[in-house]
Amino acid sequence: MSKQNLKFPKNFLWGAATSSYQIEGDNVNSDWWEWEQQGKTKDLSGQACDYWNRYESDHALLCELGVGVFRLSLEWSRIEPKEGEFSSEAIEHYRQILADLKSRDIKVMLTLWHWTSPIWFQEKYGWHKKAAVGIFSRYAQKIVDELGDLIDVYVVLNEPMVPLGMGFLTGEFPPGSKNPWKFWRALNNMATAYRETYRIIHSRYANAQVGISYLYNWYEVDGLGPIEKIANRISRWYRIDLFGNRIKDLQDYVGVDYYRLGKIVFDPKNHSYLGFRIEEDPSNPLRWVTYAKGMRLVLEEAYRKFEKPIYIIENGTPTDSGIEDDGRIDFIKIHLAEVAKAIESGIPIAGYNYWSLLDNYEWLSAYVPRFGLVEMDYETMERHPRKSFYEYAKICKNNEVEIEMVDEKI
Ligand code: BGC
Repeated sequence: MSKQNLKFPKNFLWGAATSSYQIEGDNVNSDWWEWEQQGKTKDLSGQACDYWNRYESDHALLCELGVGVFRLSLEWSRIEPKEGEFSSEAIEHYRQILADLKSRDIKVMLTLWHWTSPIWFQEKYGWHKKAAVGIFSRYAQKIVDELGDLIDVYVVLNEPMVPLGMGFLTGEFPPGSKNPWKFWRALNNMATAYRETYRIIHSRYANAQVGISYLYNWYEVDGLGPIEKIANRISRWYRIDLFGNRIKDLQDYVGVDYYRLGKIVFDPKNHSYLGFRIEEDPSNPLRWVTYAKGMRLVLEEAYRKFEKPIYIIENGTPTDSGIEDDGRIDFIKIHLAEVAKAIESGIPIAGYNYWSLLDNYEWLSAYVPRFGLVEMDYETMERHPRKSFYEYAKICKNNEVEIEMVDEKI
């Protein structure tokens, strides 16, 4: 074994990612809050990480980490708790949060919609209604007017195909519908709302960087028979093309979220998903299969398809609790080694965010999988940086990753 240091480009942006609902706490006006009360999740989000009140000390952690960018989101239901009525207190509070980041020389990568909507929106409209386009655009306009001076990168929508599929086809996310017709309309409305928002942002801030994130996991089929090939093509069409082709020319970058390998197995005994299932790794808290090479494969695929610079907006792994997380350190390093190879091959990659800064509320699975560089004690709200926090800090500060290489025998 020998060590090798992989250098990253001079302006490469190192970051950490989060989302409002998963860390802020007490988002009582959100559709997800209601969803939880109906017993649809493993546990209630409650105070989450109480980031809403503790953002300053969390930003101090970001400084210790040495990141150049923080990816966070706004909770639409705080900003517009009632239809058409914007809360100046909430906007002012977000202003303080973003200004605090800027005062620490940390760039702001802001998601406008990370899966959660105000209750009134869900009850009266929903994404499947045409009115959703105007309503979302009005919210986006308000943010650009009130907070635009503090935002560097906009992620207008987070992985839209996830809430579209789970909200309108499988019924696991709000609004809990299983209706392909509604799904189709919601898809089109969301894409139109995105295009509208892209124009709104650029008409005021010509140089803003605007895009979305795609859940860009690497999918492979078990065997290469015709059924598997077709399944793989359909899966890519669904995950990337359906939304991506609708907004292709209105993206300043492509946002890639990469977590795992999805190995599609044809198993006629499986009755869901037309007899197809995804292979699982029982040793992983979410049964996800780690596959570092897939990171490079998706970067290549995303660049071939969109021909735009790429931000890796999320990459991370869940581990059990405890601060000794060597598995996470390996995960980060082997994935970054693939990012380095992709950069070397000429793909323009602007930055990498680790998901997540803190353990947080993981949607349906609540608090069990832990993704944080920092461990949360949810009883006391204390934060304990893990071993990976210090390793990632080294990477950010040195702009390089030290990896072990297996020596090749000559
Ligand atoms: C989502 C996050 C989530 C993470 C880990 C991403 O797809 O954007 O909200 O916590 O995956 O499951």
